[in-house]
Amino acid sequence: MNPMRTGIILLACIAVGLVGCTEDSPSQPAPGSEREGGGTPDGNMDTESGDGDVSDRQGDAGPVAPPWGDGLVHPFSPQEALVERTGNVIELALVASQKVHNTPYGDVPGYAYNDVTPGPTIRGRVGDELRVTLTNDLLTPTTIHWHGAHVPWDMDGVVWKMDPVSPGETFLYTFPLTQAGTFWYHPHFDTDSQVDLGLYGMLVVEEEETAPVDHELLLVFDSFEEVKHQETTEHTHVHGGTIVTTWLVNGALAPEVNFPAGSRVRVRMVNSSNGGYLDLRWPGMRMVAGDQGRFGGVRTPDSLVLVPGERAEVEWRVGSEEFNLLNQPHTLMGGEAYGEPYSMLTVVPVGDAPLPEWGDWGSTNTEVTPDPDYTDIHYVFTGSPRTGQWLINGEEYPDVTVEEVPAGESRMIEIRNLSPSHHPFHMHGVSFEVLSVNGVAPEEKRIEDTMNVGIYEVVRIKVTNNNPGEWMVHCHILGHAHNGMMTVIHFLP
Ligand code: C2O
Ligand code: CU
Repeated sequence: MNPMRTGIILLACIAVGLVGCTEDSPSQPAPGSEREGGGTPDGNMDTESGDGDVSDRQGDAGPVAPPWGDGLVHPFSPQEALVERTGNVIELALVASQKVHNTPYGDVPGYAYNDVTPGPTIRGRVGDELRVTLTNDLLTPTTIHWHGAHVPWDMDGVVWKMDPVSPGETFLYTFPLTQAGTFWYHPHFDTDSQVDLGLYGMLVVEEEETAPVDHELLLVFDSFEEVKHQETTEHTHVHGGTIVTTWLVNGALAPEVNFPAGSRVRVRMVNSSNGGYLDLRWPGMRMVAGDQGRFGGVRTPDSLVLVPGERAEVEWRVGSEEFNLLNQPHTLMGGEAYGEPYSMLTVVPVGDAPLPEWGDWGSTNTEVTPDPDYTDIHYVFTGSPRTGQWLINGEEYPDVTVEEVPAGESRMIEIRNLSPSHHPFHMHGVSFEVLSVNGVAPEEKRIEDTMNVGIYEVVRIKVTNNNPGEWMVHCHILGHAHNGMMTVIHFLP
């Protein structure tokens, strides 16, 4: 690691905004009030409310109205971007600029989109055309990458054979939204530091059918590491190898959120941490979607390990009892770490009603593609925290061998992790099907764009060239990617 990077990392400590988390307490959104936007030029969520006064209804047997009014989306969620819609064309502007983040640990200089971190949530529907004008008000080049979305290659925001957006310049990202699901956006230039400094937001693409829930809550998790010095304690992001000690949820530390008793909530989550793993639990574990949209059914894991870059959608039922979203400390060096699960967020019901029934999310698709006994492409992950060098097939990006795949063809890829660290494997431009992990096929069809490859694990996936481009393939521990763990696969037109 060069001295320059060290400087950036120090500067990057706690680059998470707390907009909306200090002045308006998430646990008590003011009835009928607009959420304060922290000065963003890009608009606030629509929280105007009808009858937000719930106090006179407490004690009623039935469900009560949400304390924030009529909106579907809970106002603790990141702000929604102000969009202009003409037919199925959605237009909006994102400005990347410097921003002093007001965090639980003090004011820290960083970056933000439209002055907020997490950046504004972009919400559209399948079939929409998204048009985002990025203005770069930073002093350094930047880009936007649409993580998980199948965009045309020249809209992918990477700098492999393409130029970044220079300071002072604008760039129009335009592409159709083709998949429903929870995605996110972040720079792909100097990614390790720019994401760390606060540049990330959610991209939500709604499916056609309506979800069997009353409300939606969006959660963006980012991590900090406590570094004890002799006299001070510093909070920094994690750059591999250690245990995350502090997580912020939408920029807040262990927030409380209210939901009406008797309601069902869809929670969309993204782990935007540079290198921290989450291992989440809550009462009645139900997962309804992963990286690539709804499962067509539900899954009931014992715990939800959400790796950097990965998304999940889960269902919560709110009765009269408050409950916690718990996180078990987790290391890159082998999973569950020492320590007890601790609360990331508390749900406090408003009113009094029994737990509702679970929502009907449809029936499960169990058809898994059989794993054939051949391999077209091998990706061997090696590296060591001691050397700080992380490689794929012994190559350090950008000096990599580019595999080519003709249009329409599929390839079996085997990923072997021979390093003493987990790695979140991520592919741009397409999603892949997981055929086996250590020789065992998944119980249900598993389509992903980001997945964990544990220490010494062998993961076999199938990809099909249905989107031409020179796509990045990399570890989403951004420090690992920065230090070489990135390659390119060329899907020929
Ligand atoms: Cu979210 Cu290549 O990254
Ligand atoms: Cu890695």
